[in-house]
Amino acid sequence: MNYDFNKSINRLGTSSAKWDSTEELFGEMDLLPLWVADMDFKVPNEVLSAIQSQATHGIFGYTAKMDGYYDAVISWMRKRHQWKIKKEWICSSPGVVPALSLIVQAFSQPGDKIIVQPPVYYPFMKVIESHERQVVFNPLQYKNDRYEMDFEDLISKIDDSVKMLFLCNPHNPGGRVWTKEELVRLGDICLAHNILVISDEIHSDLVFKPNVHTPFAAISEAFSTNSISCTAPSKTFNLAGLQSSNIIIQNESLREKFNVEIDKYFLGLTNTFGVIATEAAYNFGEQWLEECLDYVEGNLHFITEYFKTRLPSINVLPLEATYLAWIDCRELGLTAEELETLLLSKAKVALNQGYTFGPGGEGFVRMNLACPRHIIEKAVKQMEEAILSVQAKTVV
Ligand SMILES: Cc1ncc(COP(=O)(O)O)c(C=O)c1O
Repeated sequence: MNYDFNKSINRLGTSSAKWDSTEELFGEMDLLPLWVADMDFKVPNEVLSAIQSQATHGIFGYTAKMDGYYDAVISWMRKRHQWKIKKEWICSSPGVVPALSLIVQAFSQPGDKIIVQPPVYYPFMKVIESHERQVVFNPLQYKNDRYEMDFEDLISKIDDSVKMLFLCNPHNPGGRVWTKEELVRLGDICLAHNILVISDEIHSDLVFKPNVHTPFAAISEAFSTNSISCTAPSKTFNLAGLQSSNIIIQNESLREKFNVEIDKYFLGLTNTFGVIATEAAYNFGEQWLEECLDYVEGNLHFITEYFKTRLPSINVLPLEATYLAWIDCRELGLTAEELETLLLSKAKVALNQGYTFGPGGEGFVRMNLACPRHIIEKAVKQMEEAILSVQAKTVV
């Protein structure tokens, strides 16, 4: 091990959304922030050195992406995901969510329908609704602690107004790594009904062995030309604040339309540090990533065993990907409001509430595991005490 993920780094007072905005957002003091998806870990040494050397240079003018940048992205996709992409397919965007927003504008009209598979990353719904398109739910089926796609329901929801499907690949929350077979079924249905697949692959590097991520567009030429893939180094290497993402579009006419939207808002320029960090991370960050994944898997194992042995009414789902544990609290028999209040006011943990992820999320919470183990230990202990105190009252 080269990196010490147990090391605590104080993020308070660093303008960290996760640490410094928690009180304002959740209305409670002294909360352990285990909500938004960034890590409390320092980035790979090579990324830090690249940023430091640019900072020392002292000039932060407009920045261009050079061949070295594109080579780093292309070789990462090939090495990690056996996905062969070309330089000209790579489009810029300040982030994946901004890209989703531009995609909605570029490829649909107000009133059109866009399918999502809840429980799912809540900005999917927000992006669709804020552009006055209709959200169509194709809920995932929850079977034996695992989510599966419901293809019959999907087909039944399709009509001429459906223009797009937002695929979360791997899935947040719930941590599924969709298999090639599942993606082929989904992709075939979308092709047959002329539905554009927007594959959000931001979590694709955060996959636990033996699961293997399949880039949707890598499955076939037909899928590649009927899709847009949203990728980023931000979750993988903890670079969310640097606003760097790569939107990969093979289909030339889709790419042109996307770039028209980017140009409309002058969003094509990139953040100096985002470019430098992305290149360094993709070139040199693999060892760090492997160690990070092992550490996070250890955290997952810890909370799973903790609740299994001490509080079996709380069920931690097995994760195939992401550092976001998805925890089933339904056996507690609390309403969404009661669960939220209990966790915030008594347990003093700021988690994401399941209901915010859409239908099927009620009674679950999402916990960010990308932090030193002692924070996780404290959080689960506080949760246990809070839950037991409520249960004791009910018994009395
Ligand atoms: C599925 C998914 N997409 C996108 C994002 C955010 O992307 P960005 O910060 O690039 O807008 C997240 C962050 O948690 C996410 O989980």
